[in-house]
Amino acid sequence: MERLIPPTLSLKGRLRVPGDKSVTHRGLMLGALAQGESRLHYPLKAGDTLSTAAVMRALGAEITEQGEHFHIKGAGLRLQEPTDILDCGNAGTLIRLVSGLLSGQEFFSVLTGDASLRRRPMGRVTKPLLAMGARIEGRDRGNLAPLAIRGGGLTGIHYELPIASAQVKSAVLLAGLFADDDTEVVEPAPTRDHTERLFRHYGLPIEVEGRTVRTRRASPFGARDLTVPGDISSAAFFIVAALITPESEVLLEGVGLNPTRTGLLGVLKEMGADLTWEVTEGQDGEPVGWIRARSSALRGISVDPRQIPLMVDEVPALAAAAAWAEGETHIPGLEELRVKESDRVAAIAQNLQRLGVGVEAGPDWLRIQGGRVQAGVVEPFHDHRIAMAFAVCGLPVGVRVQEAEWASISFPSFWEDLERLSNPA
Ligand code: S3P
Repeated sequence: MERLIPPTLSLKGRLRVPGDKSVTHRGLMLGALAQGESRLHYPLKAGDTLSTAAVMRALGAEITEQGEHFHIKGAGLRLQEPTDILDCGNAGTLIRLVSGLLSGQEFFSVLTGDASLRRRPMGRVTKPLLAMGARIEGRDRGNLAPLAIRGGGLTGIHYELPIASAQVKSAVLLAGLFADDDTEVVEPAPTRDHTERLFRHYGLPIEVEGRTVRTRRASPFGARDLTVPGDISSAAFFIVAALITPESEVLLEGVGLNPTRTGLLGVLKEMGADLTWEVTEGQDGEPVGWIRARSSALRGISVDPRQIPLMVDEVPALAAAAAWAEGETHIPGLEELRVKESDRVAAIAQNLQRLGVGVEAGPDWLRIQGGRVQAGVVEPFHDHRIAMAFAVCGLPVGVRVQEAEWASISFPSFWEDLERLSNPA
């Protein structure tokens, strides 16, 4: 489905973005492992997280949607052998984290997903899980789904992550809940720490010392309610939309402001953004607050590559901001973007070209010549964040977005919210 965005004069209003995708995936998994009943409040109900709910149901948890929350009846630490293949859809976080969980289960399971997910590298999780004692087979020597797992009999490991990846860290920590001996993961750079915070919320073993995270075999644990903060990765599109559209002001409320997720805010400030935010409460271990963005005269900068793991999903939105900035923006450290829902380095470069923006792409970098954006047609390459980032990039001049339905993977109300806040020419 193609979506036509008319040239937009200004963007104004307040918005509560949908629940955080990373926290919703984890909340569903840990609620399913708990004993007893709990509520997951304000979860993200979108393509990716509905896949997680379906997978956890197939593993024995009872999960029902009730108004604004999911009601979860946990299966306990011993899940149920699924009677069929588990379909992870488009969700990388689901297939990688659940691989860790299934490695701890003494039964057979098979994980698959859509065409995009079946192209994404799984060796990064199967390698440490095999080292812990799980039996895992997959295409391309265990690097590609479908993955067949027979778990159980795990021993803890000390694992130095070769890449900064919260998904790999979390998969190993989840497996560690079922292992003899301690499991230790060392990160090369900080990544989102929702798993660590949620382990604390549920009273599961977790110790953090600098870049080392440690866990060990869990005892049966009780269910606890959890409130999911708004997703800063979804807020990012409205932040950038307000910055690049004249006479705009947007207030985003109830947004998760976990410091391992807020890299984009600092980078935009460095570009001259009129952007303020404040943490107003701690919600089940996660800082939550508001963000206000106003139209700004942005300038190009050279982004510090150490910021990328703290804004890994926001690079498409940053590219949209860079297209409107005066001068050149250099974004290094993008090797991981090549293996997201699409090859995002290529997808960003091609769509910037479609809007008349000068861009050069290297193996792990982008150089964007900002200041001149033309109306055009953009192609999301089956990637939700590319669809939303380029809808925003074309907003002030008008843009046609192909495959607009992909936004529903993480932000089902994106198009309606955009229309509600926009004042078309
Ligand atoms: C996620 C971690 C990141 C991110 C993804 C969600 C998570 O992936 O891109 O959207 O919830 O742990 P990597 O761990 O592959 O960087």
